Amino acid sequence: MIKEVQTVMDVRAQVKLWHDAHQTIALVPTMGALHEGHLSLVRHAKTKADRVIVYIFVNPKQFNDPKDYDHYPRNHLDDLDRLKREGVDLVYAPTLLQMYPDDFATNIHVSGITEHMEGAVRPGHFDGVATVVCKLLLQVMPDIAIFGEKDYQQLCLIRQLVRDLTIPVEIEGAATMRDEDGLALSSRNVFLSAQGLKQAKRLNKVLFDLAAQVAKGDVSTENAQNYGRDQLNAMGFQDIEYIELRSADHLQEVSNDNQNKPMRLLAAVRVEGIRLIDNVAVDKIN
Ligand code: PAJ
Repeated sequence: MIKEVQTVMDVRAQVKLWHDAHQTIALVPTMGALHEGHLSLVRHAKTKADRVIVYIFVNPKQFNDPKDYDHYPRNHLDDLDRLKREGVDLVYAPTLLQMYPDDFATNIHVSGITEHMEGAVRPGHFDGVATVVCKLLLQVMPDIAIFGEKDYQQLCLIRQLVRDLTIPVEIEGAATMRDEDGLALSSRNVFLSAQGLKQAKRLNKVLFDLAAQVAKGDVSTENAQNYGRDQLNAMGFQDIEYIELRSADHLQEVSNDNQNKPMRLLAAVRVEGIRLIDNVAVDKIN
């Protein structure tokens, strides 16, 4: 059996033992229902530290729709099995009361970076993420924490949070794991029908094509978003939440001042009512 703890006391006791033995610790935060994308973070973590802790907690505070929270896939025994096979040292799976006792009253809000894209479409979502991640990092105090580029805005938000609050943890971004057709792996993909899955696989194609065109200068940075929306429409996406070209570091709008720096193209669409997000790098060739 893989070692699993549920309390902050137990996770800290284990972390102390490892740190006393001069071992480094990488933390991989997740909400469970693990797929190959999560496991790629675990493998990445193993190259970065002596010990790997995987955190599993479906965080109610980051679901702006309670139905989404209720229906979020949960497969704890399967998850433990997969993590054991990956050679993970410890699973930290706190209870709801452990993270949010009845008198819990703190909310962490990171401004600026949370006000557009995911933040605009999912009010309160990023406060929930910032609050739980801040609490988690302070509970565990790993040397390094790994987050996926799949949730690029979340990664940028966490970097900002850790910088602003001087939390002594290194934040590492890991590349998005995709299936053979380029679809970004996501816990939500299981809700798609065969037809929906086919449609979903077109999202990455639009993003990669547009990123290449912007990089070459065939599509201007000013036109990228409108062009992207037209492409998504033409590829059969009827429910587009956003498609935006932003600076890669702080997700600012692209202007004359920053258009020669690395950029990121990010989009969210719904297919069969299921939200899909994806993003790709845009490195302009001058
Ligand atoms: P969750 O959606 O479970 O994702 C956990 C981590 O896996 C995140 O860092 C996410 O970016 C990464 N991930 C998801 N799909 C991936 C893929 N296809 N390739 C690579 N990495 C992928 O993100 C969360 O949970 C939560 O917001 C959390 C940070 C745990 C806070 O509650």
